[in-house]
Amino acid sequence: MVRQAEPTDIPDIMQINQETLPENYPEHFFREIFDRYSKAFFVIETEGKLLGYIMCRMEGGVSNFGLRWVRRGHIVSVAVLPGYRRHGLATQLIQESTKALATEYNAKEVILEVRTTNLPAIKLYEKLGFQRIRTLNAYYRNGENAQLMAIQM
Ligand code: COA
Repeated sequence: MVRQAEPTDIPDIMQINQETLPENYPEHFFREIFDRYSKAFFVIETEGKLLGYIMCRMEGGVSNFGLRWVRRGHIVSVAVLPGYRRHGLATQLIQESTKALATEYNAKEVILEVRTTNLPAIKLYEKLGFQRIRTLNAYYRNGENAQLMAIQM
């Protein structure tokens, strides 16, 4: 079941983040995002166990689809535990959060960065309608490149 995250979920969310991604953050980072953008912060739970999460923030910037200033949502982190993948859970998380970014925070587009080598995630985002915008060279701390992707809402 997808539901909005609660403050008490943060330890489990941090655990999933550490198990699944190289980008790990201190607790206050998760709390600050939760405090400001809780309506676009979702978890997947089954029988009391968290299987995945998505957290997002809002920002302003030049559109990736034309020369204008837009309010855009930014997917900061999304992950599903290894034993529960390929069941559409990330799809649900992304669909719920992009909808919330548009309806609750008035986002006109949603962007994200993903490692250019993370083909499962790139395939997932493309299936959901995200477009490849450009490569961000040496975006990650270990020098890896990111693919910037975006979708219009
Ligand atoms: N290989 C190829 N395509 C894949 C894939 C894989 N390993 N994983 C997902 N996809 C594509 C497929 O098109 C899939 O549809 P299908 O299963 O009908 O073929 C579609 O994405 C939807 O996948 P879904 O089941 O919703 O994704 P998921 O719940 O398995 O989660 C990730 C996908 C990327 C979130 C998950 O693999 C993960 O947590 N990875 C580690 C963290 C991470 O990389 N996060 C993204 C950082 S930007």
